[in-house]
Amino acid sequence: MVEEEEGVAKKKYQFLEDLPGIGPATAQKLQELGFHTVEALAMAAARELEPAGISEKKALVIIRAARSSISVSFVRADELLKVRQNVLRLTSGSKPLDMLLGGGLETQTITEFYGEYGSGKSQLCHQLCVNVQLPPERGGLNGAALYVDTENTFRTERIVQMARHLGLDPEQVAKNIIYAEAYTSDHQMFLLDNADEVIKENNVKLIIVDSLTSHFRSEYLGREMLARRQQRLNKHMHKLIRLARAFNAAAVVTNQVMAKPDVFFGDAVHPIGGHIVAHTSHTRIYLRKASRGPVRIARLVSSPYLPEGEEIFKITENGIEDVSEEEKIKPRRR
Ligand code: GTP
Ligand code: MG
Repeated sequence: MVEEEEGVAKKKYQFLEDLPGIGPATAQKLQELGFHTVEALAMAAARELEPAGISEKKALVIIRAARSSISVSFVRADELLKVRQNVLRLTSGSKPLDMLLGGGLETQTITEFYGEYGSGKSQLCHQLCVNVQLPPERGGLNGAALYVDTENTFRTERIVQMARHLGLDPEQVAKNIIYAEAYTSDHQMFLLDNADEVIKENNVKLIIVDSLTSHFRSEYLGREMLARRQQRLNKHMHKLIRLARAFNAAAVVTNQVMAKPDVFFGDAVHPIGGHIVAHTSHTRIYLRKASRGPVRIARLVSSPYLPEGEEIFKITENGIEDVSEEEKIKPRRR
């Protein structure tokens, strides 16, 4: 298919085999490397195709063709604005939290939720899996979700409760959540490395990794392993960004916290993963429990363009909900 765009003829490639220089054998090797779609190839680096026996020169031709198909090249800043306008917003289920995020979670970037156990990271992930299926006028993206679960905490029962509350057919909602448990950090990376086809075929608009860091943290112990761990984490997160951009999907990761032994004032915890995770997550939100009950405090810690701030929400049977005015001002029991 040739599409005329502002006078420039652009060729659209649908399948790997449509690209110049890719026959069935090369296509198969590329698929074994995790490149199942033109979109994923467009985001590849030439040396990544080397294991498929493709020379750097040939790789560049292929990648260029794939890129031309999905238009990733230099643009003028006014066009960049148009690209930004393609960014879609997904509701968290809580209005104040959405406002904190500038209107909801963004597609094409990574949003990280970090906090202690029980702070609501996985509950938010569950809620987002349901919300993404809503139509845009209800804050959804009319899409499916992909859930990579490293701690075996995903529960379909919870999805059913949340779907019912929103008036959705629970069975249908559960069908639109593609789930995989990751057993090790390598397996977790493998799952994302091979996710492009599943994402495309199922119109996945939300990719969740819950938790991003738990396997890495338990497998790479000690100082001497740190550099290797960070390198792997970096690669993993970059894969996630590339998927989010290629398919205009929201990417969400969760992260635990570690105590800072040297802090006496302020927050004595910080998220795992150091600079790599900090710099690769576009938006970071710190979740913590209020002194009691279902209320949680969300703090926007970093964002490319939004100011820091705090909002509250609550976790109930129905899922993530706003805290009512009465609840906010309810006096403590004496
Ligand atoms: P870790 O993964 O252990 O680090 O914690 P997390 O941040 O992922 O916590 P999670 O999202 O699993 O939150 C668990 C909390 O959510 C529980 O302690 C409950 O307070 C709340 N919660 C979970 N399910 C329900 C439910 O069905 N009803 C209600 N009312 N609250 C729930
Ligand atoms: Mg969790």
